[in-house]
Amino acid sequence: MAVALSVEMLFFSSLFLLPISVFSQNNGRVAVGSSRTASTGDSSSWLSPSGDFAFGFSPLGNNDLFLLSIWYAKIPETVVWHAYEDNNPVVAPGGSILNLTANGGLVLNNPQGGEIWQSGTTSGTVAIGVMKDTGNFVLQDENSGSLWETFSNPTDTFLPGQTIQRNGKLSSRQSKTNYTKGRFQLRLQDDGNLVLNTVNLPTDFANNPYFDTETTAGTVEGSEGRQLVFNSSGYMFVLRENGGRFTLTGPQGVSARDNYIRATLDFDGIFALYSHPKNFTGNADWSSPLWYKPDDDICQTLLEDMGVGVCGYNSVCKLKTDNRPTCECPEGFSFLDPNDIYRGCKPDFIQGCEEDELQGPRKDLYDVKVLTNTDWPTSDYVQLKPFTADKCNESCFQDCLCAVAVFRSETCWKKKLPLSNGRVDVSLNSKTFIKVRKDNATLQPPPKPIPDDKEKSRNAVIRVESALLGTSIFVNFVLSSAICLGIFFIFRKKPVRSSTDIVLDSNLRSFSYKELREATNGFNEELGKGAFGVVFKGVMQIGSGVEVAVKKLNYVMQDVEKEFKTELKVIGQTHHKNLVRLFGYCDEGQQRLLVYEFLRNGTLASFLFSDIKPSWRQRIEIAYGVAQGLLYLHEECSTQIIHCDIKPQNILLDDYYTARISDFGLAKLLLMNQSQTHTAIRGTKGYVAPEWFRNLPITTKVDVYSFGVVLLEIICCRRSVDMEGNCEERAILTYWVYDCYVEGGLDAVVDCEVEAMGDRTTLEKFVMVAIWCIQEDPSLRPTMKKVVQMLEGVVEVPVPPCPSPYTR
Ligand SMILES: *[C@@H]1O[C@H](CO)[C@@H](O)[C@H](O)[C@H]1NC(C)=O
Ligand SMILES: *[C@@H]1O[C@H](CO)[C@@H](O)[C@H](O)[C@H]1NC(C)=O
Ligand SMILES: *[C@@H]1O[C@H](CO)[C@@H](O)[C@H](O)[C@H]1NC(C)=O
Ligand SMILES: *[C@@H]1O[C@H](CO)[C@@H](O)[C@H](O)[C@H]1NC(C)=O
Ligand SMILES: *[C@@H]1O[C@H](CO)[C@@H](O)[C@H](O)[C@H]1NC(C)=O
Ligand SMILES: *[C@@H]1O[C@H](CO)[C@@H](O)[C@H](O)[C@H]1NC(C)=O
Repeated sequence: MAVALSVEMLFFSSLFLLPISVFSQNNGRVAVGSSRTASTGDSSSWLSPSGDFAFGFSPLGNNDLFLLSIWYAKIPETVVWHAYEDNNPVVAPGGSILNLTANGGLVLNNPQGGEIWQSGTTSGTVAIGVMKDTGNFVLQDENSGSLWETFSNPTDTFLPGQTIQRNGKLSSRQSKTNYTKGRFQLRLQDDGNLVLNTVNLPTDFANNPYFDTETTAGTVEGSEGRQLVFNSSGYMFVLRENGGRFTLTGPQGVSARDNYIRATLDFDGIFALYSHPKNFTGNADWSSPLWYKPDDDICQTLLEDMGVGVCGYNSVCKLKTDNRPTCECPEGFSFLDPNDIYRGCKPDFIQGCEEDELQGPRKDLYDVKVLTNTDWPTSDYVQLKPFTADKCNESCFQDCLCAVAVFRSETCWKKKLPLSNGRVDVSLNSKTFIKVRKDNATLQPPPKPIPDDKEKSRNAVIRVESALLGTSIFVNFVLSSAICLGIFFIFRKKPVRSSTDIVLDSNLRSFSYKELREATNGFNEELGKGAFGVVFKGVMQIGSGVEVAVKKLNYVMQDVEKEFKTELKVIGQTHHKNLVRLFGYCDEGQQRLLVYEFLRNGTLASFLFSDIKPSWRQRIEIAYGVAQGLLYLHEECSTQIIHCDIKPQNILLDDYYTARISDFGLAKLLLMNQSQTHTAIRGTKGYVAPEWFRNLPITTKVDVYSFGVVLLEIICCRRSVDMEGNCEERAILTYWVYDCYVEGGLDAVVDCEVEAMGDRTTLEKFVMVAIWCIQEDPSLRPTMKKVVQMLEGVVEVPVPPCPSPYTR
């Protein structure tokens, strides 16, 4: 009677609240053939008879994505179970359909009909599905036997009525809102012991437990745990083989009848019991934990030989007042993911022996910060004793491997990156010296080592223009290359370290000609032809093979051994995310070759001038990248490099479509060839700055000019000279854009592209910067530093004058 009544009440309330679901609802029973659709409507879930639990699609963020899950239907946002595949939650786009089928169990298809997930059944045919009031969804055969149930496939939450068998487990989430499997695990081991441990994702490798019940086979027969039970009165215990019980907790004075009770392995590693009144008005919330494990300091108890600790690498775990862990980064470090502090920290600077060496005398590089009682107990590489605190600090300071030193009772522990299991332990009474780079302004990506056994490398490409020599009918193009063939300069700010004994930077490798012939399969696959020679695709047989681009230089003289190596050294020392990386070289008799990383996405020229117009956003990013690469060459690398040949054919794109400048620094190599003839130049415009024709000194401003032209090409997605179009006034891009700019008609330069017109401020700014760059008078052109600042909006862009007051 009571049951009938409550069902009826549900019926009536549902009539108002849930008009659709009520008709397919039958006491939580779901007939084979029923389906649910991923949407925000009510037909997206099946309710349990009491209406406490819902099974179906819960919205995930605001992206029309849904999590296939079970949640408390009357409480916002508490998911107790979700479907998962490997380590990932099953997420369905809006319009996906979940069907209950006789043979496949639950089947989830996307709106196009492709299968996303299937529950499967152990065997047998499904007669009915039942959403129970316990929060368990069960697929039953015709004898009401269970074929599959969510209680047997738990995620991070354990509910009254649920049990966990040996080898069963709960796994935490990544974060409150990210349902991807996290590192923490509650496991009833095969030996009957219930443990909390972390795993080293993506594997299941379990670190040593940070909590356990010791319910193994001890001296007492049958005392090992058989299952973990959460009974309906809210008691959780390990049931032993002999029927004995190891009680973890009771409901802590909370009535399991009038309250929802759950135990969740939270994303911070704490396993906690929570309650929430069933009968509530207003905004009742989940209680703070009624009970939790570990109940001592998790930052101290969780210590892993082979894992990272509660917090990620390089971070420090601290206990908050509510006894939950939080993570902090030491000074000079910042969170890998600012939205997830448990993911660890990264240094804001580059540290390493090679890096220190490159930057000069070590004492200029680091500050030492002193922390108290902070330790990373598993990151030691040497222990020194007896020692003093000063000697400990000094020893770490002088040691390029050392990141941190901890000193306590005459002992010094030196530690290296990445630091793991970081925590504050006031009982230590120790001093921690941590090295922090003084100068973080020139933050550079870590140098990519040449491919060797340790480095499988980012495979990437170098491709050189092929169109240039073969097809160009435009004098400009030919001239620009001809000029740059002959006249390349590298201006030094300071002399290279040793002039007599040239030893190449250790991160450039010397290859034999034979090696490179084999790597390129006899110089078989030509990637392109450029001013400097022909480029071939190659694969170095290291590990699983590293793709490279091998450039055979044309015009290098033979008796310039020393200069060749000096130039290579300059190139080898450049490290910037917008430059193509040189791995090594070959210098054998007649043969001079350069080995570069291989970049998969070709040249900027092919990207810009193909039939499909790249997006405005992408083009903006590329423009920033080129500007930053040039700024680095001009001002930030140890030896100033003027490129002299900036054009879209010399800018490559990596896997992420980041712009990477190539062919920089080859200047001197070509200059060495005295026999190269120079064509007399007459005034033309391509990418070449006018001072080339005017006997003016060649400075970094020639690159600024070329950059201006390239920037216009990026904005307009067309070549700087286009005689093929019918319209004469548009043939020379620089003239045309300036005319459009003066007449206020910038829509035309982007061909009325919607995205660019919606971003008019940027469009206008970029055009103005470009016009500044292409000023005929080099002294009017900004430096690359100024260019970057203007592009980024750090400084205002003044109204530019006419770029060519003399010739027009
Ligand atoms: C799933 O259910 C929908 C709607 O009831 C139906 O059109 C579709 O054929 C079903 N798919 C399967 C695989 O049973
Ligand atoms: C969740 O975390 C995983 C692992 O850190 C990450 O790969 C994934 O992108 C995150 N998902 C969301 C929706 O943020
Ligand atoms: C749950 O376990 C507790 C403690 O073992 C026991 O007192 C209680 O009767 C159990 N409740 C049910 C419904 O079995
Ligand atoms: C639920 O709340 C109502 C009104 O606040 C009250 O009359 C009723 O007794 C409560 N029921 C339970 C089981 O607490
Ligand atoms: C640590 O050593 C460095 C280098 O000798 C020194 O500059 C610094 O002052 C020392 N710091 C402390 C706290 O002793
Ligand atoms: C560089 O260091 C200063 C002072 O320590 C800090 O304020 C700044 O944010 C750092 N910059 C970067 C890029 O880390």
